[in-house]
Amino acid sequence: MAGEQMGSDRRIVSRGLWGCKGNFWKRKGGTRTAVCVTVLLTGLFALLFEDAIESWSIALGRSRGVPGMWTVDPHVGFLSPPREYLLMPSPLVCQRAKPHLIVMVTSAPGHRHARRVIRDTWGGETDVRGRRVMTFFAVGQSLDPELSKQLVQEAQDHGDLVQGRFLDTYANLTLKTLSVLGWVRRFCPEVPFVAKVDDDVLFNSAVLLRYLNRSHGADSDLYLGRVHMRVAPKRNPTSRHYLPALSYSPEVFPDYCSGTAYVLSRSAAHKIFQAAASLPLPDPLPPEDVFVGLSALEAKITPYHCPLFSGGPGVPYSRCCYQAMVSVHHTSPAEMVRFWQEMRSAPSCSWLRMKVSLGICKVRGLLGTLLGGKEEE
Ligand SMILES: *[C@@H]1O[C@H](CO)[C@@H](O)[C@H](O)[C@H]1NC(C)=O
Ligand SMILES: *[C@@H]1O[C@H](CO)[C@@H](O)[C@H](O)[C@H]1NC(C)=O
Repeated sequence: MAGEQMGSDRRIVSRGLWGCKGNFWKRKGGTRTAVCVTVLLTGLFALLFEDAIESWSIALGRSRGVPGMWTVDPHVGFLSPPREYLLMPSPLVCQRAKPHLIVMVTSAPGHRHARRVIRDTWGGETDVRGRRVMTFFAVGQSLDPELSKQLVQEAQDHGDLVQGRFLDTYANLTLKTLSVLGWVRRFCPEVPFVAKVDDDVLFNSAVLLRYLNRSHGADSDLYLGRVHMRVAPKRNPTSRHYLPALSYSPEVFPDYCSGTAYVLSRSAAHKIFQAAASLPLPDPLPPEDVFVGLSALEAKITPYHCPLFSGGPGVPYSRCCYQAMVSVHHTSPAEMVRFWQEMRSAPSCSWLRMKVSLGICKVRGLLGTLLGGKEEE
């Protein structure tokens, strides 16, 4: 099945070419041919520069928001930020290993299998392009004593769990991010880059490091990912992201990076953490990624869009496309193993194939989202 998908990019392109040829032989008039060639060239151009077009259209749609736009009714309940760690790697881990990038995977206590697969695939990459990359897993507390015992064992076996003192629930994901940022601030303040990644994401540190090396330093404020714009809070109490006006009064959120995967430079991580500490923690809280966006706004840091992050919608698998992406969301553990093996066992695709493949799989992903009507979370 994977092989079939791999060939499909090429098939789509060649089908387009054949369609044109057929028309060319049937029609004597030159107009049809000219139109056909123009459409093909435009299509090819769009595919090749899909990433540039995407960045440009996002830049056009930006809405800044103003610091202090977030007001909370004083009568709501407030939560306290988690400051303690029940499980964590050695406090000296960063002083010893001096990582260039820390990938914090947010994971639920029960997702042991997902964590194992990540360790066996992309999370096992510790030396990427000559740089040290470390992957840790952020979890909260479980009410299940058996699960809690297993977590202690897992932390002993792997030394890569960071467990904060808060109940691990969907509504508490914002506390998890605060706990992670606090941990990095305390134990790895020197690390140049931190990525926060969900445990159903295929993450490619090598592509990220190449991208960062080309364009960004750790001492400039970088808040990088797939930028979501003009998202409105969910006012429907049955929604997983329900946020009443008492907790957040404005009609839209400021721009923010999708929580599936985003990256902060050292200076941005410090400023965002500081800003976050000055913000109220109403119950219920804004979603984790929105909260980081609000903190970034407070710290006057603008989210930076990178088309190589998939964000909410999945991207259909094709080897060359996946070799070019930094993050792909909605990847099951079984897919992660299969895709990773395939991506690693074959040589890198050429620049041209990678570009075309990236364009095609993005368009297919977009069509899939539109046709399937699946809502982006
Ligand atoms: C979030 O965590 C706090 C601290 O553990 C807990 O009291 C609260 O019930 C949790 N909230 C939800 C909605 O799970
Ligand atoms: C970053 O770029 C420089 C040259 O521009 C290169 O020598 C170095 O190997 C690159 N590092 C990484 C991690 O890609």
